[in-house]
Formats: sequence, structure tokens, C-alpha cells
Amino acid sequence: MTASKFLMKDYSSLPEKGSITSEAPSNIALVKYWGKRDIQIPENTSISFTLNTCKTITTLHFEKKENLTNDYSFQVYLDGERTTSFEPKIGKFFERIEEYLPFLKNYKFKIETSNSFPHSSGIASSASGMAALSMCLVALEKQIDNLKDNLYFQNKASFLARLGSGSASRSIDGPMMIWGKHEAIPESTNNYAIKYDKIDPVFKEYQDTILLVDKGEKQVSSTVGHQLMYGHPFSEQRFNQAQDNMVSLLEILESGNLKNFISLVEREALTLHAMMMTSNPYFILMKPNTLEIINRIWAFRKETNLNLCFTLDAGANVHLLYPKNEADKTLDFIKKELVAYCKNGEYLCDNVGSGASVII
Ligand code: DP6
Repeated sequence: MTASKFLMKDYSSLPEKGSITSEAPSNIALVKYWGKRDIQIPENTSISFTLNTCKTITTLHFEKKENLTNDYSFQVYLDGERTTSFEPKIGKFFERIEEYLPFLKNYKFKIETSNSFPHSSGIASSASGMAALSMCLVALEKQIDNLKDNLYFQNKASFLARLGSGSASRSIDGPMMIWGKHEAIPESTNNYAIKYDKIDPVFKEYQDTILLVDKGEKQVSSTVGHQLMYGHPFSEQRFNQAQDNMVSLLEILESGNLKNFISLVEREALTLHAMMMTSNPYFILMKPNTLEIINRIWAFRKETNLNLCFTLDAGANVHLLYPKNEADKTLDFIKKELVAYCKNGEYLCDNVGSGASVII
């Protein structure tokens, strides 16, 4: 499968002006993407739950330039305020995707975006943000090219989102998404993420409560973290382990075996952070409260035999994963014992969702 299928056909006319609004959720990986090569090609396959309430809503206003210029013309507004700090990243994104959307330089764009979660929450908005913008851009392509194939639309949105941020490729559909080629998963590809739903019903309603442990700027960005997997002493073993974990996890997801789910998901989270701690230079993104929370979860599980487990992304916040039918008891525990470890007692309740959509 090559990327060439996402090149546009010749077109004769372009719409003068208009606007398109899309929304896209965040996602949380179970088998983690950590390490990439070339242009956003992952070193291993990853799989995530698509979230539901943590999302970005983006409106793309477009207006044809009077005279074609050889540059991208766009402005970004976050919650109504011009935010120039986002613009270099979007500029780089446009450069990468122009081959697949050759009309970009024909337009002046205004990109208005807002997140459902507080921006100081430390939750990465790049996945949902890049996914929402990609949905808008493919919707514009649809107006130009009269695209009819819905799967092509979804795949291209994921393909473009990946070029903005790897994990964004997994925010287009749900309940789960797989990104990265895997020999045992026929449709899988490095180019975009595919929907995965051969899962026990318990996972379609899984809960994710995000404990906001540290809301500051991360000391080490994901981009730098990915780079540190080059020449990492354990990188090869890690990439092989992830491929093996994918096979095991798909079996677990089908069978609904929650004990095995917990063991694999927590191992993946700690392995991700172990890679950070053993890279050169080394770094630690977990905070003391991250560890307190993990220990409390283990004690709670031992005491109750319930199925609460954790995963981590590239930060100190903790994602608490648990089945819906255990939500009452688990939320009780979260409020009584875990909220004390959150910055200002803040946490977000989310659950598995169905992906991105074009609203208007
Ligand atoms: C730890 O997708 O943020 O969340 O491709 O450089 O934008 P870029 O990286 P990014 O990396 C996400 C890493 C992770 C694991 C995951 O989501 O799979």
C-alpha cells in the first residue's frame, strides 16, 4: 500500500470561499508508539482507545487568494485569540501534506480551534487538533473532487493527521484504532490508522478517568523522546516486544479477559517510561504523585479484585481504565483516595468513543 493513492486527481475549479467545522477526540494508546523513522513512519504498531468527551473542534475558513502566491497563508485562533505559537507547526504540516492537497497555496485560511479540555491540563491536544484539522481539509477536498468513498475519506484524514502528529492518525475513528504495519493484521499500514472493533462488548464502554497530576509544560517533548529511541540500547527489543504485545492484546480484546488486559496495559505504560529513563540523555516524566497513584491502584485491586488499571502517555498524568459496570465503586475510590494527588484536585471523566466527524 503506497501513499500515492492519496494524491488528488486533476481538478478544474475551486470553490471561492466557505467554512467547514469538524471535531475530533483525543485517544489513549494501550500498545505505545515510541520511536519513528523517515516522515512519521512508526517503528512499531500501536493501538488505542478513541476517547469521547476530550476533543478539539476546529473551523476552517477558506477564501481563494486574488493572486496566487507561493506561500501558505493562514492564521490560527485558539478560543477566539490569535495564537501565533501554533503556526510554525501548522506551516510544517502544510509543507508535508501539500503534495496530497495541491490547492493549499490557492487559499487564505483562518483556523479557529478550541478544546473541550482545559489547555492547561497537560493533555496533549496535538492528536485531536491535527485530526480535526485534517478532517476539515479532506472535507474541502471532497467539495473540490466530489469524493464519494467514505472509507477513502476516513483513510485520507488519518493519513494527513499522521503527517501532523503520529498519534493523531488514531483519532479519526473508533472504538479502537491500529496504526503501523503488522504481519498478523492484514489491513494494517504505516500510512494511516485502521478501525478495530473485533472486541468484547466490555471494551466498547470502557471508562477513562484522567488524573491531572502535573499541568505544566513537559520538560521533554514527544518529538525529542521519539528521537532518543535512535541508538537506544533497548530499542530493538522494545520494537519487537510491541509487535508481540499487539498479538497478545488482540486476543485479550476478543476474549474480554480483563486480568490479562490489566497486566499487558500496565506493562506497556511502564515500558514506555522505562525507555525514557534509559535513553541518553535520560529523563523522567512521572512525578512522585504518579507513583503514589499507581501504588494505590495496586492496593485497591488487591483488596477488591476489581479491574481498575492505569496507563500513561508521555507525561505525569494517569489514565485510569475500568469497565463501566465497576464505575460506581471505582469512582468512589478515585474521589476518596486518588483526587488528593491531582493538581487542584482536577480530573476528567471520559470513555470510549466513535471518532471524528465533520459537523457542518
Ligand atoms: C507516548 O504522536 O505526540 O503518546 O508523531 O512526534 O507528534 P509525534 O508524536 P506523538 O507521540 C505520542 C506518544 C505517546 C504514545 C502513543 O500515543 O502511542
